[in-house]
Amino acid sequence: MTATTQSTDLTADLRATALAALERLGATVPVAADGEEGLPVVSPLSGRSLLTLRRDGAPEVSSAVGQAAEAFRTWRSVPAPVRGQLIKRLGELLTEHKADLAELVTIEAGKIRSEALGEVQEMIDICDFAVGLSRQVGGRTMPSERPGHRLMETWHPLGVVGVISAFNFPVAVWSWNTAVALVCGDTVVWKPSEKTLLSAIGAAALLDRALAEAGFPAGVARLVLGEREAGEALVADPRVALVSATGSERMGAQVAPVVAGRMGRLLLELGGNNAAVVAPSADLDLATRGIVFSAAGTAGQRCTSMRRLIVHESVVDDLVARLVRAYGNLQVGDPRAEGILVGPLVDGGARERMLAALEEAVADGGEVLVGGSPVDVPGADDAAYVRPTIVRMPEQTDVVRRETFAPILYVMTYSSLDEAVALHNDVPQGLSSSIFTLDAREAETFMSEAGSDCGIVNVNIGTSGAEIGGAFGGEKSTGGGRESGSDAWKQYMRRATNTINYSTELPLAQGVSFG
Ligand code: SIN
Repeated sequence: MTATTQSTDLTADLRATALAALERLGATVPVAADGEEGLPVVSPLSGRSLLTLRRDGAPEVSSAVGQAAEAFRTWRSVPAPVRGQLIKRLGELLTEHKADLAELVTIEAGKIRSEALGEVQEMIDICDFAVGLSRQVGGRTMPSERPGHRLMETWHPLGVVGVISAFNFPVAVWSWNTAVALVCGDTVVWKPSEKTLLSAIGAAALLDRALAEAGFPAGVARLVLGEREAGEALVADPRVALVSATGSERMGAQVAPVVAGRMGRLLLELGGNNAAVVAPSADLDLATRGIVFSAAGTAGQRCTSMRRLIVHESVVDDLVARLVRAYGNLQVGDPRAEGILVGPLVDGGARERMLAALEEAVADGGEVLVGGSPVDVPGADDAAYVRPTIVRMPEQTDVVRRETFAPILYVMTYSSLDEAVALHNDVPQGLSSSIFTLDAREAETFMSEAGSDCGIVNVNIGTSGAEIGGAFGGEKSTGGGRESGSDAWKQYMRRATNTINYSTELPLAQGVSFG
């Protein structure tokens, strides 16, 4: 069999598997008509197009926003615990269809099975969280300075939330936003990455089913399948009260001024350039496992993937030797196969950017210690498989300070914790960080105001693999937004301050007298 025939077989197999999963999910697939210029669905497993879908542009986005705005008028007055019951049903459907949705995530995002299942589990977890939240969102009361008065806060839904998600978490990030936004009383229009359309169709079909069963309007949650034009229309639409966008720093820099210009609200989750500090006291066995998962797992394509390692000079040789050994054992290939830990990069462009970054790192004096080369996977000639790599750098040069969305881990050394923290924080991004140490002083310092400047600061675990209970997001060019757990729900609601006078007098604040 020739390589081309093998690729054709693989593509046919992926298409059949994806369509069967979508059928089990009860999804309608909007296939483009013959001759229509649609959106190709390309699987990174083969690098080839599986089918072509209908493309939504600005008019379709406008119509979806209109439906969501209309639905908001009734949805906002449905009691929050009743809205929570919808999310409870979504969680049940996700549990029932966990394997189906995970299959689509593997086919479109290239995640190994365990990570794809983990992504859907994260959706189930946020549904649980949001159901609890539906009985908890509420405000404070504060003492009034005036006798016979009460001061309190009430929280109200914002309106339509526009969710723009990235390919690397094709469904979980939508659920972080949607489960919370819906219990808060908002309606949602979702524009997923054009690289992961089938996963989005599958996930949206489950929510559509839950809405229909409960008799709620479909406009409560809408999906638009488009490219840049669709994204731009969503961001610019004044009826969209909050834009929650996940993606590159470049994308965020384009979205932010448009939303700010119309005084909309923004929730940005952009790039990360996440680092771990490895201190002299670290448990190197545990650190090795944590680093390999965060740096090489998901083929380095999480926002929280570890990209920099700042190691004390006394342990660097030992740690690097362990890491090089572990990287040597990583199996790269079809993420559906047993034993594979590293699937493909999302496309050839990602591989080109990885190879260009490595060339720049070497020109800056970096030494490639392991990996860094493309990998041929039989039958997948158009796919972009690479071997995860470790590069020892003499200093933190420009290429290290940029986020390259690929499995490159740059290793640098330090001699004092102050130096490690300075190196750690000297990048534009501020998403996730960690320190491996058994010294409580070092751990506390790293978590303190004088330590890491990131939104996520871990101790003795890697930088990736967040739980939904905490607020997720980061600082600086990462965008400052927080999604998912803790009190991130406040971003999806507006606050009203109420002063209630239950006396017969009308005292003015600050003792002002007026006639
Ligand atoms: C991401 O959003 O890229 C990562 C989240 C995580 O690692 O949990």
